[in-house]
Amino acid sequence: MSQPTSRSPGDAVPGQDPALAVSPKRVRVHHLRAMKEAGQKITMLTAYDQSTAEIFAEAGVDVLLVGDSAGDNVLAHDTTIPVTVDEMVPLVRAVARRAGRALVVADLPFGSYHASPEQAVSTSVRLMKEGLTHAVKFEGGRSVVPHVRAVSGAGIAFMGHLGFTPQAEHALGGKRVQGRGGAADELLADALALQEAGAFAVVLEMVPAPVAAKVTAALDVPTIGIGAGPDTDGQVLVWTDMAGMSTWSPRFAKRFADARSVLLQAARDYAGEVRGGAFPGPEHSYDR
Ligand code: KIV
Repeated sequence: MSQPTSRSPGDAVPGQDPALAVSPKRVRVHHLRAMKEAGQKITMLTAYDQSTAEIFAEAGVDVLLVGDSAGDNVLAHDTTIPVTVDEMVPLVRAVARRAGRALVVADLPFGSYHASPEQAVSTSVRLMKEGLTHAVKFEGGRSVVPHVRAVSGAGIAFMGHLGFTPQAEHALGGKRVQGRGGAADELLADALALQEAGAFAVVLEMVPAPVAAKVTAALDVPTIGIGAGPDTDGQVLVWTDMAGMSTWSPRFAKRFADARSVLLQAARDYAGEVRGGAFPGPEHSYDR
């Protein structure tokens, strides 16, 4: 039986504003399309472990992306490029097991899909069977259309990623805004090609806001922006940027908290109490 997309006020879903037009018990790809049609913004955050998955799901975030940004946020690399499928699988599985109502999307890391459509399918299958993801994402436009067709044809939900594509950082000459000037038409052609090949949504990263707005208006499927202005159908941020866990974050990433300072202080307090003998106290000890 299909999930209802509209719920009456009072028929609340945990973490969701009951006034929202589209408020499914469990977010599926068609709900994202319904959100676009209803003008309701889609919310997406990265997550790489069970705690963040649980917290973001409880907050009502619609989509959890297990991004290959795990490379520079979990695995201490400088870029996403060294990330492997073996490293992604346990992260994806942890998030998928704690995602609650959220739709889980897993990134195919660099080198795990480029070789052929068959490679894209077999990596996607692995992330679904071993990682339990609901959907996959990989970077590229018209050059990966055969891969997208193969993945979609295998019954796998696919999200595209255009604009600044971090796996191509060296080829693009660094972290640079994409789609300026004449490149805007190329970006639009890529987005339309991904939609036609079966993408259920397209991420637009570091794209001028007017270009992202034009692409969003031209597509039937939703766009999710990161550094792409306010007119995309949804927004995504890397959670460590959003919550202020990282020491550096890009200009487009608003810090909604200072989680790093909170953790730093907690760890300092803990170490101080252990060294001073205040912890553990009697309430944390067993008499017998
Ligand atoms: O890996 C990632 O976190 C991403 C986002 C930047 C969209 O792809």
